[in-house]
Amino acid sequence: MKLSNLIKPRDGIRGISRYKGGKGSQAIGAIKLSSNESPLGPSDRAVKAYIDSAKSLSIYPDGNSTLLKEKIAELHDVNVNNIICGAGSDEILNLIACAYLMPGDEVIYSEHAFLLYKIITLTNNGTPIAAKEVGLKANIDNIINCVTKKTKIVFIANPNNPTGSYLNKNELYELRDRLPERVLLVIDGAYAEYAQEQDYIDGKSLISETANTVMTRTFSKVYALAALRIGWAYAPLHIIEVLNKIRGPFNLSTAAINAGAAAIEDHDHVAKSVELNSNEKVQLLKAYEEAQIHVHGGAANFLLLDLTNLAKKNSTMQQEMVVGLNNYLIKNNIFVRNVSDYGLPCHLRVTIGSKEQNRTVLDKIREYIEQVCNTK
Ligand SMILES: Cc1ncc(COP(=O)(O)O)c(C=O)c1O
Repeated sequence: MKLSNLIKPRDGIRGISRYKGGKGSQAIGAIKLSSNESPLGPSDRAVKAYIDSAKSLSIYPDGNSTLLKEKIAELHDVNVNNIICGAGSDEILNLIACAYLMPGDEVIYSEHAFLLYKIITLTNNGTPIAAKEVGLKANIDNIINCVTKKTKIVFIANPNNPTGSYLNKNELYELRDRLPERVLLVIDGAYAEYAQEQDYIDGKSLISETANTVMTRTFSKVYALAALRIGWAYAPLHIIEVLNKIRGPFNLSTAAINAGAAAIEDHDHVAKSVELNSNEKVQLLKAYEEAQIHVHGGAANFLLLDLTNLAKKNSTMQQEMVVGLNNYLIKNNIFVRNVSDYGLPCHLRVTIGSKEQNRTVLDKIREYIEQVCNTK
């Protein structure tokens, strides 16, 4: 076998650093707050629908995800024909890049945006362009300044992971307005349900009002069905038609379709999940302020802790402190997200968990600060 005969991937694929999900552990009592999963777990109705789906394992699923799309359309008051479902919103984001990127097309996202945008851009022969953020928030001027003739797509997670910041209604409209109409704007609303701020919108209205805007959503967060892989997009018909051509013909399992549909019907469960998140967030923000830890964003179900002032000296020491804190938490069976691969080596992203989980994490962080930082 000649090495030179080994089949080679596309050029861009060689430059991809593989996506690393949040760490966890099967150990008893382990606390996993590294992937923004819901501490409440899924609705009982969704679990029942999942189990009931076992009766039809030998039959292909409905390739149209009809039941799920109908429930989504009803809940969001949109036309069912403008919806496409995917195996997680990951799949839909990738389908979008696959369908529209030609070699050399540029894709813009903000500096500390969800890592997948870069991966899917490189996967699909595009050129990733990261627009500088200001105060860990997407900046419209900087995004617009990155636009060239080659710009094809702009991805904006709203709220963004891992910064937890968001563009408000006026800013989202301004962004769409200032982008050339031909540029596809993808508004990723993975955390939309948690964003309770008055000036927040999920961007749905932009999809019907403009030619090239898409909103993606997921069942992995507030619906707590991450393992089932369910996502969807609301988009103009011309985009839905294209994405339907290239998706897997049976991309959602029967269990996913049925459990997703059942989860939507359980409004109380969703409300409980959002309420728990909001209440805990208030408590946590107060506690972190008291501990003199600056917290960014907070529009979703996680907090981005800025740990730069754990060590005042220099950035190397600061980064060592953050690694030390993360290791200390791991030693105590607590898993949060190291976000150095997001260009944030002095930060940790912590999912808002249950009351008990949040207290334990806080106690351990305080303990570390007392033991280590105050002695340096
Ligand atoms: C901003 C953002 N978009 C999309 C996703 C992907 O979600 P899904 O589980 O639907 O693929 C995530 C997952 O963490 C996310 O943070």
